[in-house]
Amino acid sequence: MNDKNTPWIDLRSDTVTLPSEAMRAAMAAAPVGDDVYADDPTVNRLQDFAAELFGHEAGLFAPSGTQTNLIALMNHCGRGDEYLVGQEAHTYKYEGGGAAVLGSIQPQPIANQPDGSIALADIGAYIKPDDMHFARTRLLALENTIGGRVLPQDYIKAATDFAHAKGLATHLDGARICNAAVKNGITLREAVAGFDTVSVCLSKGLGAPVGSVLLGPKAFIEQGKRWRKMLGGGMRQAGVIAAAAHYALEHNVARLAEDHENAAYLAAALAGIDGLKVTTPQTNIFYVEIPEAACAPLRETLARQGIRASIGPQTRLVTHLGVSTGDAKKVVDAFKGFFKDWRN
Ligand SMILES: Cc1ncc(COP(=O)(O)O)c(C=O)c1O
Repeated sequence: MNDKNTPWIDLRSDTVTLPSEAMRAAMAAAPVGDDVYADDPTVNRLQDFAAELFGHEAGLFAPSGTQTNLIALMNHCGRGDEYLVGQEAHTYKYEGGGAAVLGSIQPQPIANQPDGSIALADIGAYIKPDDMHFARTRLLALENTIGGRVLPQDYIKAATDFAHAKGLATHLDGARICNAAVKNGITLREAVAGFDTVSVCLSKGLGAPVGSVLLGPKAFIEQGKRWRKMLGGGMRQAGVIAAAAHYALEHNVARLAEDHENAAYLAAALAGIDGLKVTTPQTNIFYVEIPEAACAPLRETLARQGIRASIGPQTRLVTHLGVSTGDAKKVVDAFKGFFKDWRN
């Protein structure tokens, strides 16, 4: 709540989404058990449901996307191995270097193209020969969506085929893969085709309070349970949160289209303000270039009107189920009002 005692309109991230009443009811009603003993029926049901939905053999529920990604990296790569990853990728840039710190895995970062992809020629060039001087290249990790951009489906097919032909495994950080599927009008199975393993976040646009699932072959998931335990992700009566994750996958995927529409509306309206440079959103995330001198007063003006945003020269704005079309209109009015006065 802000100082007007109304909920914030929060555009900082889709991680700020709150569980709905119906989601909370599902959580309250969930049968639970000790999931380290695989005794929690709600966790088991979620893992099976997610595996089926995405077309994988098995699933593993963990507290965060950072952890499901790390479990995957530690499963695919051992000590002295390396994985190929985009410079902008979350696993490389925003997960504390966990692959290197905890997995003894060398990341080989590669420049992302403007559309978020990694060029096949670059992937080929960075695969190391079998030589004792080099780390062993084991894995290609992609992210979709990446900075709100949707990787083209034909690119994903080409990149995963190429990696497999070179003897690499493939992992998808699919924190927002549901946004990509909805944007492309394809099934979740189609969206993750070509990847050996996939991490999916439930706690972002899908609206669950906690949790991610790792999907892959049965034996991979079994081994993943060992890493999850070691990383402190073995939870006990986790059905309480798995119920929310299940609810999110059942009810909150198709509605992501509303978030994409609100982002498109917001971006188009902000682009009409003199002095702002706005990217065209493909999904629920877009960027606005704001004159440096305007940043601090704009942040304060928005906050006074109950709007939270990470305002800076490169501002990322994110729509989600906590931002209605009416909220988007209020945000546009607030920006317009500020820039009218700021210029005078
Ligand atoms: C693309 C991407 N991958 C992974 C994660 C990690 O998720 P978590 O915050 O649950 O660790 C995030 C979080 O914002 C993300 O944006």
